[in-house]
Amino acid sequence: MANDVSQALYLRAKNYIPGGTQLLSKRPEMFLPNLWPSYYRRAKGVEVWDLDENRYVDMSYNGIGACVLGAADADVDAAVKAAIDSGSMSTLNAPEEVELAELLCELHPWAGMVRYARTGGEAMAIAVRIARAQTGRDPVAFCGYHGWHDWYLAANLAEDHALDGHLLPGLEPTGVPRGLQGTAIPFRYNHTEELESIVAAHPHKLAAIVMEPVRNDEPRDDFLQAVRAIASDIGAVLIFDEITSGWRLNSGGAHLIYGVEPDIAVLGKAMSNGYAMAAVIGKPSVMESAQRSFISSTYWTERVGPAAAIATIYKHRRCNVAAHLIEVGRAIQSGWKLAAERAKLQLEIGGLPPLSHFSFVTDMKQEARTLFTQLMLERGFLATNSFYASFAHQERHITDYLKAAEEVFCLIAATLQNGTPTSLLAGPVAHTGFQRLT
Ligand SMILES: Cc1ncc(COP(=O)(O)O)c(C=O)c1O
Repeated sequence: MANDVSQALYLRAKNYIPGGTQLLSKRPEMFLPNLWPSYYRRAKGVEVWDLDENRYVDMSYNGIGACVLGAADADVDAAVKAAIDSGSMSTLNAPEEVELAELLCELHPWAGMVRYARTGGEAMAIAVRIARAQTGRDPVAFCGYHGWHDWYLAANLAEDHALDGHLLPGLEPTGVPRGLQGTAIPFRYNHTEELESIVAAHPHKLAAIVMEPVRNDEPRDDFLQAVRAIASDIGAVLIFDEITSGWRLNSGGAHLIYGVEPDIAVLGKAMSNGYAMAAVIGKPSVMESAQRSFISSTYWTERVGPAAAIATIYKHRRCNVAAHLIEVGRAIQSGWKLAAERAKLQLEIGGLPPLSHFSFVTDMKQEARTLFTQLMLERGFLATNSFYASFAHQERHITDYLKAAEEVFCLIAATLQNGTPTSLLAGPVAHTGFQRLT
């Protein structure tokens, strides 16, 4: 499938936009250098048309996790159009802010107050600011990825410039004030002892413990309860980042399933199905501290984001979207397993079903992954080694995709046997991203 128009536009983009895109995970080099279509003309459900009018079925990230109902969902778009028609911005505030706050607190009965932002990273920065305002402390212990802001990238500042970046490979802290060194300290998921040593090294000094309640692995040995107990014991604010884990397993934050209450939870991405919206929800005793700091931005008051979120949440609940996402994710995971067995290919499969991923068990992982993307693209699929389920994924998408995946696994297995996956590659090997330290 030729996509010359897209390729030409991406070359132009690189002249004007450092890095070519606004999000690392949308860089074509991360998928298939020189061949990934990069731009879309339109998207509907899980179908995407590139600038050259090639049609693909998205069996990859579906808007990097945002399009939980599918692209251009009719119900959400109707609410957005109504919001636009009644004025997306004014000197006065949008009443949808209050309706959404009440809805979020109804879904999360432990929370009583809400602030908004429009992107995940900035919402996390707000949450950490509130925690620091609340406690009067600086250091933050964290697990996982939480965006691009200084508080987080500070984790990659070492004593020595040359050592910068070693804790979270791929996240360069250049431009982050060196004075923040030592203020963000990582621990790994399910490793309570690592959090305990951070606490021991900073007795009663942590402002917050920041983590996703669940991502790749289920919590083991009451991990979440242990983290909750530590946070309460040392007076640190427990922040659950639900930007990606939320709205996948249930209608709301995944922590509701595990029965552990944070002090603050942050929701975004899937909450508004492709429109910019993020929410910081929390216990009133903690959220009130937002008033003791300056946290304020013009476009946090526009109307489209909350209107989209309200419509998305109602539909999510009404249609039991989470059950569909789990079912689709399970079908994909078991389909990968079967296809790999038939192709005699070794795969490691993991992730929560709605956020599934696999990796090729070979020392030519990256070559094999690039080849997978290329061969699937030739068969009409946007595909990589991650699959984010959408409500718009239907049985026929799954069947067609798994049939193609099996064919492609067989081709990859043959090249791996003689050590030549690059022989079939039409371009360079894909770049690697960053590590989440989960
Ligand atoms: C857990 C988590 N936190 C924060 C972010 C950052 O969100 P955003 O890209 O909207 O700034 C992401 C994005 O992938 C995420 O998965």
